[in-house]
Amino acid sequence: MPRSDSSLAPHEPGTVAGADWWRQAVVYQVYPRSFADANGDGIGDLKGVTSRVGYLRDLGVDAVWLSPFYPSALADGGYDVDDYRDVDPRIGTLEDFDEMVTALHAAGLKVIVDIVPNHSSDRHVFFQAALAAPAGSPERERYIFRDGLGENGELPPSDWPAAFGGIAWEPVGDGQWYLHSFAKEQPDFNWNHPDVHEEFLETLRFWSDRGVDGFRVDVANMLAKDLPEVLPSAAELLGLDSTSGHHPFLDRDEVHDIYAAWREVFNSYDPPRTAVAEAWVSSPERRARYAAPTGLGQAFNFDLLTADFDPAAFRRIVTENLAQSAAIGSSSTWVLSNHDVTRHPTRYGLPPLAGRPVKQGTEWVLAGGPADGIDLDAGSRRARAATLFLLGLPGSAYLYQGEELGLPEVAEIPNDQRQDPAYWRSLDADGWTFDGLGRDGCRVPIPWEPTGPSFGFGTGEPHLPQPGWFGQSAASAQEADPDSTLALYREALLLRRELQSGESLEWIETGSDQVLHFRRPNGWEIVTNFGAEAAPLPQGRIVLASSPVAADLPAETTVWLAPA
Ligand code: NOJ
Ligand code: CA
Repeated sequence: MPRSDSSLAPHEPGTVAGADWWRQAVVYQVYPRSFADANGDGIGDLKGVTSRVGYLRDLGVDAVWLSPFYPSALADGGYDVDDYRDVDPRIGTLEDFDEMVTALHAAGLKVIVDIVPNHSSDRHVFFQAALAAPAGSPERERYIFRDGLGENGELPPSDWPAAFGGIAWEPVGDGQWYLHSFAKEQPDFNWNHPDVHEEFLETLRFWSDRGVDGFRVDVANMLAKDLPEVLPSAAELLGLDSTSGHHPFLDRDEVHDIYAAWREVFNSYDPPRTAVAEAWVSSPERRARYAAPTGLGQAFNFDLLTADFDPAAFRRIVTENLAQSAAIGSSSTWVLSNHDVTRHPTRYGLPPLAGRPVKQGTEWVLAGGPADGIDLDAGSRRARAATLFLLGLPGSAYLYQGEELGLPEVAEIPNDQRQDPAYWRSLDADGWTFDGLGRDGCRVPIPWEPTGPSFGFGTGEPHLPQPGWFGQSAASAQEADPDSTLALYREALLLRRELQSGESLEWIETGSDQVLHFRRPNGWEIVTNFGAEAAPLPQGRIVLASSPVAADLPAETTVWLAPA
């Protein structure tokens, strides 16, 4: 495979400077419990992250985003936060956090932490106070309590489904029920209460003071709520327009007032702290509002993640999102994998859009069965091609731990060892889930070594079981192999420092509906053949390819061309 030209500049970590560092950054998501376990208890920890800073620097990413590491009962993988301003003792201490930030900064990497403002855990001090206080008390005002229906309040206030199955209301034993859009251990905050605002402003300052560079904002589109006295039914909710800005809880216009106040905090630091919204909203126009410079500044665009490996879809998504982010003054974001979705080599190995759950008896399985119907060779080839396509785009790229190793989804986790409520709660309810097997399969601890008790993750039994074949994808083995997926990511991230300039691209017509070709303002070109047949090799200096290239451009392959 053609490798990079030796005349290109060497990798210099930390060359992304100034307040605008985030606009074209490569951000690497760490799911702390599954990244590296320094003390051998089977749970990844902050010291483990610190021990792998050299790996992250050599990979060539610009920033690390940590999923929640706060004290939590882990009803939802840590997205049920007991205390927003502390570290889970199983993961480390605040001192470990400071050490980790110092080490990442010294390596030239920025640090982003996850803020979970739609809900706390049911162990948060505010919720414990609410439970201890009577109905109608000020303590209950910080959450969303309603009287139950029926003679003694024994029926839920409405039939709304929770995201992980079941009803979105939980009784507290005195005729009142609280709203939980996700698991029952995740009560939704009442953002009409000043204490809730203060809790988060203080949290943003707390982590900013500790040197954090930015925030990823969980469920950013649901904080503002205005629930009518008589609640609509679930069926009626479905009929409401979620793009109107006036839906009872989705994407309400006044949610942006919250972020305007957060922006004041961000801008009181030098450089200003950054933020990226997780907002699954229905249109790029609505999403762009979260990315306004007066608000969070950037918003995740999950359009590629939910699309098939399809040239027409990719082109439309890129064009639409670049236009929307430019119009609002932000830069676009690109994601193929994260801790909530099936890893992209597996997704692309399934028949088109077949990664949706099907229920067989009480079991959710991927269409065709967990192992059947997945062509992992094709999936991996497409994943490498899609990744090089994505890394060539203007904007920031968000990578998920393990994707640089080409890890597929782990389907064979014994059901009794699964942790994800999206799996457990979907067994007895037809509620929405992220995918049929839940999200544990992309959260299995990383294989660092080909052998050893947990393939170098730690010395103890890993908290989620790793399959026997995991060692084949070990980081240390790939480091030595120039044709590995890890080598491809490293090479791409190194070259990307030359490629990124300007925030636009120009499409070049190829005469084939299977081949996409674009040029960046500095002359770099990206060409992807999405088709099953080889295409003519583009003219120019090929410096990187997702599969071996000879006389033509192979099926399902991306190449990068540097200016002559
Ligand atoms: C989105 C997070 O990414 C996911 O992991 C979590 O379960 C939900 N928000 C609820 O916090
Ligand atoms: Ca540990």
